[in-house]
Amino acid sequence: MLTAYDSTLARVIDEQGIEVILVGDSLGMVAHGRESTSLVTLADMEFHTTIVSRGVNNALLMSDIPMACAHDTLIAIESSLRLMRAGADMVKFEVDTTMLPTLQELSNQGIPFCAHIGLRPQQVLKEGGYKIKGRDEEQRQTLIDLAKAVEVAGADMLLLECVVSDLAEEITKNAAVPVVGIGSGAATDAQVLVIYDMLGLNPKPAAFVKNFMQDADSIAAAIKQFHQEVSSGNYPATEHIYK
Ligand code: KIV
Repeated sequence: MLTAYDSTLARVIDEQGIEVILVGDSLGMVAHGRESTSLVTLADMEFHTTIVSRGVNNALLMSDIPMACAHDTLIAIESSLRLMRAGADMVKFEVDTTMLPTLQELSNQGIPFCAHIGLRPQQVLKEGGYKIKGRDEEQRQTLIDLAKAVEVAGADMLLLECVVSDLAEEITKNAAVPVVGIGSGAATDAQVLVIYDMLGLNPKPAAFVKNFMQDADSIAAAIKQFHQEVSSGNYPATEHIYK
């Protein structure tokens, strides 16, 4: 999985055989220049989903539900449907236990969704930064329970962000749905990166990011290499993993 925010890059990503394209609310930072994802609006997500969808022929297209639209069940359903009308096949929510009734209702309404747990970028203002998750016993148990609960509520996919690798492995082994990881080690079923990070355009990349442009002579070649290295298990390597 890779993120995309416009139709040209979406087309190039799609042509390299990436299975899932995510219109992430990271667009607030990497495309709109904001400090966090918190102020991204549904209109922003609808606009970028529409233009990305014009470049995608094969990949599954996933769109993020912005923070402002996630916590009220009716708003969450209406927002999901608006993103699906804009071209999304599936939506993604950053979730905690308070959202389980909303997730259950999304399932009842037939809306496919991915549950994003672990580090939730929409919470960084409250948490005071980007923190790795699962380093103490209480946090580990909370994440194990949450992963189970979102699956019971109907999640079609899980996304683990910055979860220590042995915990991500345990959650993946016990999940009946596909688990995508970012900064969560090599044992998840798939990997996602922000496209500009893996193209080496972030001046301060996180430790889990690899610059795939280093050995590539084009953006398409870098994306193909990402796909190959994830498929063969070469990415993430030891230096990209939080223990
Ligand atoms: O918004 C985003 O790009 C994301 C990925 C980092 C997983 O949620």
